[in-house]
Amino acid sequence: SVKPVTITITGAGGQIGYALLFRIASGAMLGAETPVRLHLLEIPQGVRAAEGAALELQDAAFPLLHGVEVYDDPRSAFEGTEIAMLVGARPRTAGMERGDLLAANGGIFGPQGAAINAGAADGVRVVVVGNPANTNALIAASHAPDVPADRFTALTRLDHNRALGQLAATLGARVGSLRDVTIWGNHSATQFPDVSHATVDGEPVPHLLAARLGGVDTAKEWLVDSFIPRVAKRGAEIIEVRGSSSVASAASAAIDHVRDWVHGTTNGWTSAAVVSDGSYGVPEGLVSSFPVESVDGAWRIVQGLEVDAFAEHRISASVAELVEEREAVRALGLI
Ligand code: NAI
Repeated sequence: SVKPVTITITGAGGQIGYALLFRIASGAMLGAETPVRLHLLEIPQGVRAAEGAALELQDAAFPLLHGVEVYDDPRSAFEGTEIAMLVGARPRTAGMERGDLLAANGGIFGPQGAAINAGAADGVRVVVVGNPANTNALIAASHAPDVPADRFTALTRLDHNRALGQLAATLGARVGSLRDVTIWGNHSATQFPDVSHATVDGEPVPHLLAARLGGVDTAKEWLVDSFIPRVAKRGAEIIEVRGSSSVASAASAAIDHVRDWVHGTTNGWTSAAVVSDGSYGVPEGLVSSFPVESVDGAWRIVQGLEVDAFAEHRISASVAELVEEREAVRALGLI
């Protein structure tokens, strides 16, 4: 029998936690052969909600679920953990400056990084969902000096999946026929969703867009004026239409991210924010989104892609924002 995998989910009493737990327990993330033990971490105000979710997990009688524990202490919650999904974060509230937001999150992700350093399993994989996700991952990694930096990632798979959804709808193509879309940079409005290497059944997406939309120029206009801003601001659109932020799609993307990290990518590359090794001119150490493949259980940045002047400009703008965030958390003594 396969040994259960221990997974820690922070913010487990919140909305994304509620959408995430049942899919993990059903086997959607690690597969139908792998049992799981769930460690739910909350702050004291969120513990009852997490306990309620734990009761419902029991009631769902998932055969793969070998245990659920609720904690309000990071040291215990991360003890022996193999997969850490850091969802809980301090949201921006009215009147809050960026420095306040970064400081509040530093107070969360610093101690969680230290707890991972102290107690997590060798080979732990960490994905940060809570915003500002890239910089929260940077803070956590900087408090975990004994954990290789490539084990810390931030989620841009939701942005990636949003891009796939928009392209599929516009091209009248199946999502599964699309490959090699990239999200570059920060999980924020500055991100760059890039279709220049993307294909549908082997046909270049830029050609297909030109054919569909009436020429190369209209296709470029659509990319710049519709596609890029719509993907980058989709979170706001969901709030506007649904009356609440993205939850199930965010949980689904987090599951995709971990599943591909553990089991490998098969159909081309995907997007994830990983610690930069300097690839594509992104300063080393920044947690930035790249085209990535998962090989032998590790993310690898896809190398050697041509980056034209437009893409270069967009990538630098988003990376500049990440540099600013890093400087701000440095100035606050958070890293
Ligand atoms: P939520 O407010 O429903 O849940 C957050 C939960 O985290 C709450 O239950 C809260 O008590 C808990 N929490 C706060 N501080 C904590 C700590 N130090 N330790 C453990 N738990 C803690 O929010 P929701 O909708 O679940 O979103 C969670 C985060 O995910 C937000 O930061 C949101 O901005 C982010 N997000 C990121 C996306 C991405 O693509 N990277 C997409 C959508 C949301």
